[in-house]
Amino acid sequence: MAGMHTLARVAREVRRDVHAARDRDPAARTASTGEILATWPGIHAVLAYRVAHALKDAGVPLIPRALSMVTRVITNIEIHPSARIGQGLFIDHGAGVVIGETADIGENVTLYQGVTLGGTGFATGKRHPTVQDNVTIGSGAKLLGPITIGHGAKIGANSVVITDVPPNSTVVGVPGHPVRVDGRRMEGPDADWIHLPDPIAEAIQALSSRIGALERMVAELSDTEPAPVAEVRPLRQLRGTNPAGG
Ligand SMILES: CC(C)(COP(=O)(O)OP(=O)(O)OC[C@H]1O[C@@H](n2cnc3c(N)ncnc32)[C@H](O)[C@@H]1OP(=O)(O)O)[C@@H](O)C(=O)NCCC(=O)NCCS
Repeated sequence: MAGMHTLARVAREVRRDVHAARDRDPAARTASTGEILATWPGIHAVLAYRVAHALKDAGVPLIPRALSMVTRVITNIEIHPSARIGQGLFIDHGAGVVIGETADIGENVTLYQGVTLGGTGFATGKRHPTVQDNVTIGSGAKLLGPITIGHGAKIGANSVVITDVPPNSTVVGVPGHPVRVDGRRMEGPDADWIHLPDPIAEAIQALSSRIGALERMVAELSDTEPAPVAEVRPLRQLRGTNPAGG
Protein backbone atom coordinates (compact mmCIF):
# COMPACT_ATOMS: atom_id res chain seq x y z
CA MET A 1 0.00 0.00 0.00
CA ALA A 2 2.87 2.32 0.95
CA GLY A 3 4.47 1.40 -2.42
CA MET A 4 1.34 2.48 -4.35
CA HIS A 5 1.24 5.70 -2.38
CA THR A 6 4.90 6.45 -3.24
CA LEU A 7 4.25 5.61 -6.92
CA ALA A 8 1.28 7.99 -7.03
CA ARG A 9 3.35 10.75 -5.41
CA VAL A 10 6.24 10.29 -7.87
CA ALA A 11 3.77 10.32 -10.82
CA ARG A 12 2.22 13.56 -9.50
CA GLU A 13 5.65 15.16 -9.12
CA VAL A 14 6.70 14.13 -12.63
CA ARG A 15 3.48 15.66 -14.05
CA ARG A 16 4.32 18.94 -12.30
CA ASP A 17 7.90 18.81 -13.62
CA VAL A 18 6.70 18.36 -17.22
CA HIS A 19 4.26 21.21 -16.70
CA ALA A 20 7.13 23.36 -15.39
CA ALA A 21 9.18 22.65 -18.54
CA ARG A 22 6.27 23.66 -20.77
CA ASP A 23 5.69 26.78 -18.70
CA ARG A 24 9.26 28.01 -18.48
CA ASP A 25 11.02 26.80 -21.63
CA PRO A 26 9.84 28.66 -24.73
CA ALA A 27 11.15 25.73 -26.82
CA ALA A 28 8.78 23.35 -24.99
CA ARG A 29 5.58 25.31 -25.62
CA THR A 30 4.65 23.36 -28.74
CA ALA A 31 6.17 20.02 -27.68
CA SER A 32 3.93 17.15 -26.60
CA THR A 33 4.27 15.60 -23.14
CA GLY A 34 5.79 12.49 -24.76
CA GLU A 35 8.37 14.57 -26.61
CA ILE A 36 9.36 16.44 -23.43
CA LEU A 37 9.61 13.19 -21.48
CA ALA A 38 11.71 11.60 -24.22
CA THR A 39 14.09 14.42 -25.14
CA TRP A 40 14.50 16.97 -22.29
CA PRO A 41 17.62 16.02 -20.26
CA GLY A 42 16.51 18.22 -17.34
CA ILE A 43 13.30 16.20 -17.15
CA HIS A 44 15.21 12.89 -17.30
CA ALA A 45 17.44 13.99 -14.44
CA VAL A 46 14.57 15.17 -12.23
CA LEU A 47 12.53 12.07 -13.03
CA ALA A 48 15.43 9.78 -12.10
CA TYR A 49 16.02 11.84 -8.96
CA ARG A 50 12.35 11.44 -7.92
CA VAL A 51 12.65 7.66 -8.21
CA ALA A 52 16.10 7.54 -6.53
CA HIS A 53 14.89 9.78 -3.68
CA ALA A 54 11.80 7.62 -3.11
CA LEU A 55 13.96 4.46 -3.04
CA LYS A 56 16.42 6.12 -0.66
CA ASP A 57 13.52 7.15 1.60
CA ALA A 58 12.31 3.55 1.55
CA GLY A 59 15.74 2.42 2.78
CA VAL A 60 16.80 0.69 -0.45
CA PRO A 61 20.62 0.45 -0.51
CA LEU A 62 22.93 1.14 -3.47
CA ILE A 63 20.26 1.48 -6.20
CA PRO A 64 19.54 5.20 -5.54
CA ARG A 65 23.26 6.07 -5.90
CA ALA A 66 23.59 3.83 -8.96
CA LEU A 67 20.56 5.47 -10.58
CA SER A 68 21.99 8.91 -9.87
CA MET A 69 25.32 7.87 -11.41
CA VAL A 70 23.75 6.43 -14.58
CA THR A 71 21.62 9.58 -14.96
CA ARG A 72 24.73 11.69 -14.65
CA VAL A 73 26.42 9.74 -17.45
CA ILE A 74 23.38 10.25 -19.70
CA THR A 75 22.41 13.86 -18.86
CA ASN A 76 25.55 15.37 -17.31
CA ILE A 77 23.33 16.47 -14.43
CA GLU A 78 24.18 15.19 -10.95
CA ILE A 79 21.51 15.25 -8.27
CA HIS A 80 22.26 13.51 -4.99
CA PRO A 81 19.36 11.18 -4.09
CA SER A 82 19.24 12.65 -0.57
CA ALA A 83 18.72 16.24 -1.76
CA ARG A 84 15.22 17.52 -1.04
CA ILE A 85 13.45 18.99 -4.05
CA GLY A 86 9.96 20.47 -4.16
CA GLN A 87 7.54 20.24 -7.06
CA GLY A 88 7.94 22.05 -10.35
CA LEU A 89 11.76 22.05 -10.60
CA PHE A 90 12.87 22.86 -14.13
CA ILE A 91 16.47 22.39 -15.24
CA ASP A 92 16.93 24.06 -18.63
CA HIS A 93 19.61 22.58 -20.94
CA GLY A 94 21.05 20.91 -17.86
CA ALA A 95 24.63 20.07 -18.68
CA GLY A 96 26.95 20.58 -15.73
CA VAL A 97 24.29 21.02 -13.04
CA VAL A 98 25.29 19.65 -9.62
CA ILE A 99 22.90 19.47 -6.66
CA GLY A 100 24.56 18.33 -3.45
CA GLU A 101 23.44 15.94 -0.76
CA THR A 102 22.01 18.43 1.75
CA ALA A 103 20.60 20.90 -0.77
CA ASP A 104 17.00 21.86 -0.18
CA ILE A 105 15.00 23.20 -3.12
CA GLY A 106 11.51 24.69 -2.79
CA GLU A 107 8.73 24.76 -5.38
CA ASN A 108 8.86 26.11 -8.94
CA VAL A 109 12.60 26.66 -9.04
CA THR A 110 14.42 27.10 -12.36
CA LEU A 111 18.08 26.17 -12.87
CA TYR A 112 20.04 26.76 -16.05
CA GLN A 113 23.05 24.80 -17.23
CA GLY A 114 26.22 24.81 -15.15
CA VAL A 115 24.56 25.64 -11.82
CA THR A 116 26.23 24.22 -8.71
CA LEU A 117 24.47 23.94 -5.37
CA GLY A 118 27.59 22.84 -3.55
CA GLY A 119 29.50 22.83 -0.30
CA THR A 120 32.50 25.03 0.46
CA GLY A 121 34.88 22.39 1.76
CA PHE A 122 34.99 19.19 3.74
CA ALA A 123 32.39 20.16 6.34
CA THR A 124 29.79 17.55 7.26
CA GLY A 125 26.11 18.05 8.15
CA LYS A 126 24.04 20.67 6.34
CA ARG A 127 26.55 22.14 3.90
CA HIS A 128 24.60 22.90 0.72
CA PRO A 129 22.24 25.77 -0.08
CA THR A 130 18.56 26.04 0.71
CA VAL A 131 16.70 27.52 -2.25
CA GLN A 132 13.22 28.78 -1.48
CA ASP A 133 10.22 28.86 -3.86
CA ASN A 134 10.16 30.58 -7.27
CA VAL A 135 13.90 31.20 -7.48
CA THR A 136 15.71 31.40 -10.85
CA ILE A 137 19.41 30.59 -10.98
CA GLY A 138 21.30 31.68 -14.12
CA SER A 139 23.72 29.56 -16.09
CA GLY A 140 27.08 28.90 -14.49
CA ALA A 141 26.09 30.30 -11.09
CA LYS A 142 27.78 28.66 -8.11
CA LEU A 143 25.92 28.72 -4.80
CA LEU A 144 28.17 27.45 -2.06
CA GLY A 145 27.62 26.54 1.58
CA PRO A 146 24.54 26.27 3.82
CA ILE A 147 23.15 29.62 2.64
CA THR A 148 19.50 30.49 2.05
CA ILE A 149 18.28 31.93 -1.23
CA GLY A 150 15.10 33.84 -0.42
CA HIS A 151 11.91 33.14 -2.35
CA GLY A 152 11.52 34.84 -5.71
CA ALA A 153 15.22 35.73 -5.94
CA LYS A 154 17.08 35.79 -9.28
CA ILE A 155 20.74 34.81 -9.37
CA GLY A 156 22.63 36.21 -12.37
CA ALA A 157 24.55 33.98 -14.75
CA ASN A 158 28.09 33.17 -13.54
CA SER A 159 27.59 34.62 -10.06
CA VAL A 160 29.34 33.02 -7.10
CA VAL A 161 27.02 33.28 -4.10
CA ILE A 162 28.40 32.53 -0.63
CA THR A 163 26.03 34.50 1.61
CA ASP A 164 22.26 34.51 2.18
CA VAL A 165 20.19 36.19 -0.52
CA PRO A 166 17.19 38.30 0.47
CA PRO A 167 13.77 37.35 -0.93
CA ASN A 168 12.69 39.00 -4.22
CA SER A 169 16.16 40.27 -4.99
CA THR A 170 18.52 40.08 -7.96
CA VAL A 171 22.05 39.00 -7.09
CA VAL A 172 24.95 39.17 -9.56
CA GLY A 173 28.74 39.08 -9.62
CA VAL A 174 31.64 37.45 -7.80
CA PRO A 175 31.08 37.39 -4.92
CA GLY A 176 27.33 37.65 -5.53
CA HIS A 177 25.72 40.80 -4.16
CA PRO A 178 22.20 42.19 -4.45
CA VAL A 179 21.67 44.83 -7.15
CA ARG A 180 17.86 44.92 -6.85
CA VAL A 181 15.58 44.18 -3.91
CA ASP A 182 11.83 44.22 -4.53
CA GLY A 183 12.58 45.69 -7.97
CA ARG A 184 14.43 48.70 -6.52
CA ARG A 185 18.07 49.48 -7.24
CA MET A 186 20.27 49.22 -4.11
CA GLU A 187 21.32 52.55 -2.61
CA GLY A 188 24.29 53.70 -0.52
CA PRO A 189 28.04 54.06 -1.09
CA ASP A 190 28.78 50.32 -1.07
CA ALA A 191 25.71 49.22 -2.98
CA ASP A 192 26.70 49.87 -6.57
CA TRP A 193 29.11 47.07 -7.41
CA ILE A 194 28.31 47.10 -11.10
CA HIS A 195 29.40 50.61 -11.99
CA LEU A 196 32.85 50.34 -10.45
CA PRO A 197 35.44 52.88 -11.57
CA ASP A 198 37.62 51.73 -14.45
CA PRO A 199 41.22 52.47 -13.30
CA ILE A 200 42.77 51.77 -16.74
CA ALA A 201 40.43 54.18 -18.54
CA GLU A 202 41.03 56.78 -15.82
CA ALA A 203 44.83 56.43 -16.11
CA ILE A 204 44.69 56.80 -19.92
CA GLN A 205 42.37 59.80 -19.52
CA ALA A 206 44.85 61.47 -17.09
CA LEU A 207 47.81 60.78 -19.43
CA SER A 208 45.88 62.08 -22.42
CA SER A 209 45.04 65.39 -20.72
CA ARG A 210 48.67 65.85 -19.58
CA ILE A 211 49.91 65.19 -23.14
CA GLY A 212 47.29 67.67 -24.41
CA ALA A 213 48.52 70.34 -21.93
CA LEU A 214 52.16 69.71 -22.97
CA GLU A 215 51.25 69.92 -26.66
CA ARG A 216 49.46 73.23 -26.11
CA MET A 217 52.52 74.54 -24.22
CA VAL A 218 54.88 73.43 -27.02
CA ALA A 219 52.56 74.99 -29.63
CA GLU A 220 52.55 78.29 -27.72
CA LEU A 221 56.36 78.29 -27.35
CA SER A 222 56.96 77.38 -30.99
CA ASP A 223 54.13 79.57 -32.27
CA THR A 224 52.47 76.66 -34.14
CA GLU A 225 48.94 75.16 -34.17
CA PRO A 226 48.38 72.65 -31.29
CA ALA A 227 47.59 69.08 -32.38
CA PRO A 228 43.96 68.02 -31.82
CA VAL A 229 43.55 66.39 -28.40
CA ALA A 230 43.08 62.61 -28.65
CA GLU A 231 39.59 61.54 -27.59
CA VAL A 232 39.39 58.86 -24.86
CA ARG A 233 36.26 56.78 -25.02
CA PRO A 234 35.01 54.82 -21.99
CA LEU A 235 36.23 51.21 -22.20
CA ARG A 236 32.87 49.76 -21.32
CA GLN A 237 29.25 50.71 -21.53
CA LEU A 238 27.75 51.73 -18.21
CA ARG A 239 24.17 51.04 -19.31
CA GLY A 240 23.29 48.17 -21.59
CA THR A 241 20.41 46.18 -22.92
CA ASN A 242 18.73 43.72 -20.60
CA PRO A 243 21.03 40.66 -20.44
CA ALA A 244 18.16 38.47 -19.22
CA GLY A 245 16.71 38.06 -22.69
CA GLY A 246 18.98 35.21 -23.93
C1 LIG B 1 20.12 38.45 -13.26
C2 LIG B 1 19.07 38.30 -14.36
C3 LIG B 1 18.10 37.18 -14.00
C4 LIG B 1 18.31 39.60 -14.57
O1 LIG B 1 17.53 39.92 -13.43
P1 LIG B 1 16.74 41.33 -13.31
O2 LIG B 1 16.18 41.40 -11.91
O3 LIG B 1 15.80 41.46 -14.45
O4 LIG B 1 17.91 42.36 -13.35
P2 LIG B 1 18.32 43.45 -14.45
O5 LIG B 1 18.32 42.85 -15.82
O6 LIG B 1 17.50 44.67 -14.20
O7 LIG B 1 19.83 43.68 -14.03
C5 LIG B 1 20.19 44.33 -12.84
C6 LIG B 1 21.61 44.84 -13.01
O8 LIG B 1 22.49 43.71 -12.94
C7 LIG B 1 23.29 43.61 -14.14
N1 LIG B 1 23.37 42.19 -14.46
C8 LIG B 1 22.35 41.38 -14.86
N2 LIG B 1 22.78 40.12 -15.00
C9 LIG B 1 24.09 40.11 -14.67
C10 LIG B 1 25.08 39.08 -14.60
N3 LIG B 1 24.77 37.82 -14.89
N4 LIG B 1 26.32 39.43 -14.19
C11 LIG B 1 26.63 40.72 -13.87
N5 LIG B 1 25.73 41.74 -13.92
C12 LIG B 1 24.47 41.44 -14.32
C13 LIG B 1 22.52 44.40 -15.21
O9 LIG B 1 23.37 44.93 -16.18
C14 LIG B 1 21.84 45.48 -14.39
O10 LIG B 1 22.73 46.55 -14.22
P3 LIG B 1 22.19 48.10 -14.14
O11 LIG B 1 21.85 48.28 -12.69
O12 LIG B 1 23.37 48.87 -14.57
O13 LIG B 1 21.03 48.23 -15.06
C15 LIG B 1 19.74 37.98 -15.72
O14 LIG B 1 20.58 39.02 -16.11
C16 LIG B 1 20.49 36.66 -15.76
O15 LIG B 1 21.68 36.58 -15.48
N6 LIG B 1 19.72 35.63 -16.12
C17 LIG B 1 20.22 34.30 -16.32
C18 LIG B 1 19.78 33.85 -17.68
C19 LIG B 1 20.51 32.61 -18.13
O16 LIG B 1 21.32 32.01 -17.44
N7 LIG B 1 20.18 32.22 -19.32
C20 LIG B 1 20.71 31.05 -19.92
C21 LIG B 1 19.86 30.77 -21.13
S1 LIG B 1 20.56 29.46 -22.04
